[in-house]
Amino acid sequence: MNKELRSDIFMAKHTITLVPGDGIGPEITSATVRIIEAAGVDVDWETHILGAQAQEKYGETLPADAIESIKRNRVALKGPIMTPVGKGFTSVNVGLRKALDLYANVRPVKALPNVPCRYPELDLVIVRENTEGLYSGLEHIVIPGVVESLKIITEKASTRIVKYAFEFARDNGRRKVTAVHKANIMKLSDGLFLECFERVAKDYPEIEKEDKIIDNCCMQLVMRPEQFDVLVMENLYGDILSDLCAGLIGGLGLAPGANIGEQGAVFEAVHGSAPDIAGQGIANPTAILMSGLMMLRHIGEIDAAEKIEKAMLAVFAEGKSLTRDLGGTSNTADFASAIIAQMG
Ligand code: NAI
Repeated sequence: MNKELRSDIFMAKHTITLVPGDGIGPEITSATVRIIEAAGVDVDWETHILGAQAQEKYGETLPADAIESIKRNRVALKGPIMTPVGKGFTSVNVGLRKALDLYANVRPVKALPNVPCRYPELDLVIVRENTEGLYSGLEHIVIPGVVESLKIITEKASTRIVKYAFEFARDNGRRKVTAVHKANIMKLSDGLFLECFERVAKDYPEIEKEDKIIDNCCMQLVMRPEQFDVLVMENLYGDILSDLCAGLIGGLGLAPGANIGEQGAVFEAVHGSAPDIAGQGIANPTAILMSGLMMLRHIGEIDAAEKIEKAMLAVFAEGKSLTRDLGGTSNTADFASAIIAQMG
């Protein structure tokens, strides 16, 4: 492509769907928006509400115009959405991923400088299947006192996610892909996932492959996580291992993510709405900011992503403006301002 034409595209105004979300969501997304705009990225943000807020305003948790906005723009930055425990509406996060067929949930786990954590050298990526499995919450009461929860695993979705993991490994110079499963017990469902893994792996002879039973994998992740590189797994396993891995690098405030599909991509942190600290302005916006950096790279704003990342790493290295979850005293907005000041 002609260089002039290319820079034209990259400097174009972007329209991005923005879902501030619940709890700490509005605090951390507004910090991220400030930083992205300060880096010179020209964005027209289309703001939408989902979940309980949408239920109250429109009588539905996943309004069609929000879905349409993401389909039209093909990209969204999303804050966490609360899901009631044990009752109430079904997960909007699950609904959104299904509605847009955002089948690949990519969650990099990389330690940042100056953050007290167990594994400062850690650098791995979780690739989580995002559309099926036990996490779908397909449940019903068989008779009072007996419930059934359905775990659907298909060859199509398993093959697709495993392929995504190997392609990701190849494109990003990663050396190994590990399939995480429980096929010793769930011989049919996890057995099918593993079968798809073995089949797809044959097309990537240059990438090492291995599989690990999930219970052992948890122990290995805590004891010797450096042995892992890219890990691919079903939906629920990915949900749980993502939080475990966030804990290895200093906590949930540092773990970003992207939900990728053919129709678009939704970028969001691994963490939830953190009701225990919501409204106090003290949440760490790093995870959503790093999700925002994944988003900028996805839309071709590579220079802006690098500029923000460099400033963010400098703020971490300096260590004076860290949020409370990392032992600092800064609030969300101060942390964002420090990054903006660093960008100059
Ligand atoms: P959580 O991830 O919201 O919080 C767990 C712990 O980590 C809390 O102590 C919280 O204060 C801390 N934490 C999380 N993010 C932080 C940040 N950025 N800075 C500093 N500390 C942070 O998990 P929890 O409490 O189990 O879930 C709360 C709600 O979030 C639930 O309704 C859940 O369904 C929802 N949720 C939504 C997600 C999404 O929208 N993708 C993902 C996970 C949970």
